[in-house]
Amino acid sequence: MPVERLARESFGVTPDGQSVDAFTLRNVHGLEARVITYGGIVMSLRAPDRAGRFDDVVLGFDTLDGYLRDSPYFGAIVGRYGNRIAGGRFTLDGTAHQLATNDGKHHLHGGVRGFDRVVWRAEPPDRRHGAVLTLVHTSPDGDEGYPGTLAARVTYALSDANELTVDYRATTDRATHVNLTQHTYFNLAGDGVRDVLDHELTIYASRYTPVDVTLIPTGELAPVEETPFDFRDATAIGARIDHPHEQLRNGRGYDHNFVLDRNADGSLALAARVTEPRTGRSVGVSTTEPGVQFYSGNFLGQVGAGIRGKAGRTYGARYGFCLETQHFPDSPNKPHFPSTVLRPGEEYHSRTVFALGAS
Ligand code: GLA
Repeated sequence: MPVERLARESFGVTPDGQSVDAFTLRNVHGLEARVITYGGIVMSLRAPDRAGRFDDVVLGFDTLDGYLRDSPYFGAIVGRYGNRIAGGRFTLDGTAHQLATNDGKHHLHGGVRGFDRVVWRAEPPDRRHGAVLTLVHTSPDGDEGYPGTLAARVTYALSDANELTVDYRATTDRATHVNLTQHTYFNLAGDGVRDVLDHELTIYASRYTPVDVTLIPTGELAPVEETPFDFRDATAIGARIDHPHEQLRNGRGYDHNFVLDRNADGSLALAARVTEPRTGRSVGVSTTEPGVQFYSGNFLGQVGAGIRGKAGRTYGARYGFCLETQHFPDSPNKPHFPSTVLRPGEEYHSRTVFALGAS
């Protein structure tokens, strides 16, 4: 029997009465990504280890309730602006804008009700295209303080080469800032049962953007050389995480944007690669974006005694890592960073590919 590439089921109703669907994307090798229309969240991703054993390699919840409560952006599409904007303020074409603030005095991940907290509309699936799901959302003018009506469109595609591609597109009717990303927490050991400190990470970046104690970039592009931020050769995430480096103290671990060496011209290039030694699983992250936020899940353990996730598992600090492909944090206030301005008549397009492997 041929594999059913795309299946839909109902996943519940939000408190304001909107129905949420769950889509399962499958490929010929049995890889499976489950995406819900709430937040465009990748709620599970089942991939084989070197012995062919399938496990779920992302953190999340079993039910919609979990996501509605207080999810740390598990698996979500983040927008309009992934990462922080200082003071929630920027001036564009001479007009000052005040955004919602939700991270102390700063704006984080789109504000109080960002793209991770809205129900996206799924376009009617075209079965000829296989495991492809397009989600659309229109953010009204003034949403969370942003100028312009932003029409966003995100496509997830799972290929038979074990790649999950995320394509982001957006248009606006007034000049605005856009920086969309994906906030999946991976744990390649499977099923979120231990921390990710033994995962080996490579990031193709010779520079990163240091931050102040509130995680706003200082504006400097600092060399990673001879610092715990040098991941140009594969290194365990935990090898230097407790090093007394000022930047690791500021982030309580890694929570930093890396300036990608190969991505200066906006073409798709490999940004990072992670391998888990025990299972042999790996994920390669390619992107058209100039940066990637490497977040080592530092805050997970600060939520009470951890977060109760799928199958009753408790996720503690550093039980998952995120590689959020993006423009640099606070770009609207850092004129020397690559621009995140989108104007009427232009189309924002960004692509990230997560390639899963096992060896
Ligand atoms: C991002 C931020 C982190 C944290 C997480 C969510 O990755 O950079 O500081 O806010 O999201 O908990």
